[in-house]
Amino acid sequence: MPVGAYLRVNKLLTSLDEHLRAHVPDNLSSLISTIAAASIDIRRTLPTSLGMTAGVNTSGEKQARADVYANEKFATSLIGTGKAAEVASEEMADALQGEGSIHVAMDPLDGSSNISTNNPLGSIFGFYSSKLPCSGEHLVGAAYVTYGPMLTLTFATDGPVQTFAAVEGDGAPVFTLLEDNIHIPLRPEVFGLGGQRKDWIEPVERFVETLEGRGMKLRYGGTFVGDYNQVLRYGGIFGYPALKSKPKGKLRILYEAAPMAYITAHADGASSDGTQDILTLRPSTLAQPTPLYLGSESLVREVEALIARR
Ligand code: F6P
Ligand code: MN
Repeated sequence: MPVGAYLRVNKLLTSLDEHLRAHVPDNLSSLISTIAAASIDIRRTLPTSLGMTAGVNTSGEKQARADVYANEKFATSLIGTGKAAEVASEEMADALQGEGSIHVAMDPLDGSSNISTNNPLGSIFGFYSSKLPCSGEHLVGAAYVTYGPMLTLTFATDGPVQTFAAVEGDGAPVFTLLEDNIHIPLRPEVFGLGGQRKDWIEPVERFVETLEGRGMKLRYGGTFVGDYNQVLRYGGIFGYPALKSKPKGKLRILYEAAPMAYITAHADGASSDGTQDILTLRPSTLAQPTPLYLGSESLVREVEALIARR
């Protein structure tokens, strides 16, 4: 059933703009609707912005043309709202300065190694009330976009987690409520951990053996947003653990880990770097990475307990 028909049958016809007007403060509301509009443009542009640039990002990862395009599109649109005090991005060494009150940290195109294979991609945004870098305790909202069979926008501000999907009509696509009040299911079904098995620290290896023993399904596609999105729907755990060769992990606190930890907390899940809640980490640089475990609370506590007994 096409998404428009699904939404009509299920009577979930609230548009993003209606929802934002009724439930979200003005500054965050402008930023979220700007992200929605820019994501439509990025999705349309992806097929014509294939290939790599000669550059690397602040973490030394190769930049795709689409990374650069998405970064420029989101950064200029967000600054243009007048609601962003700054926009920091995984693709820029320094934050852009603006005139608003919200400090935005973003991963404009998550999972860019999936561009050439036509697998799902995403974008991640954290809305902070303090100058960056700061801890996730200053988050006042977070959002992520999925570029998959559907274009979706999932976010939480103060309250529940919601997903809106872009529905094609006569004019520009309209983001319409797809799922309201999302909670991670109690019975976990899926898990996905990055890095090579032989490079995992020993407690993580034991943890994964336990999950396999319980018959949980491995789901790992190499895009944080896509892999996490399954954990949110099916219950389970996503991790990019501390590796023997990379003890500090790979995913970045401000741009990736803390925004998704905020959404997870609002969906009754939990997050950890192995010993403490991701939201309490205080990065000293914009691109500081962390080991990350995220999803069903019972599993996050289990991996923490194994790491503590190490
Ligand atoms: O942003 C980094 C990222 O692309 C994530 O989207 C993803 O979870 C991870 O890296 C994949 O890393 P690897 O290629 O090591 O599995
Ligand atoms: Mn990323």
